[in-house]
Amino acid sequence: MKKVLFVCLGNICRSPAGEGVLLHYVKRDGLSDKIEVDSCGLGSWHIGKCADMRMSEEAISRGIELPSKARVITIEDFYYYDYMIPMDHKNISHIKGICPSDATTTLLPFCDLISSHEVADVPDPYFGVENGFEYVMDLMEEGCEELLNKLKKEI
Ligand code: 4NP
Repeated sequence: MKKVLFVCLGNICRSPAGEGVLLHYVKRDGLSDKIEVDSCGLGSWHIGKCADMRMSEEAISRGIELPSKARVITIEDFYYYDYMIPMDHKNISHIKGICPSDATTTLLPFCDLISSHEVADVPDPYFGVENGFEYVMDLMEEGCEELLNKLKKEI
């Protein structure tokens, strides 16, 4: 079993999109018993909430559901998950600041999975422009195919 945790700030836009897209591909390829997927946030504003409606609607328009309920990262996550996948550099700094010294997880920045163009961060769409959600989904679709290919070699 490989276990993957997407991480963003609020856990209502980017990491729920990553979770939903990877889950969709995992089911498509019949790997649900081999790959576990979840997402979490670094802030606690939205605990228990479903993904932001604008993010869900963009995903649904591509045939993908976002099942997440927002939660905050825990210390146990650093031992349970094989990969922790932050969406931007601020997430990476925050995670490094709370990461236990004997953590067993591997930090894999989401943008390292994007090869089609240069991209440093998955931009936070929450306060941003209208097509931000479309762009997040474009990145999730590309990066999650790449991630699944990587995981397939490890299971
Ligand atoms: P996310 O977006 O990190 O992609 O879930 C955000 C959602 C909410 C907030 C910040 C970022 N917020 O400050 O409430």
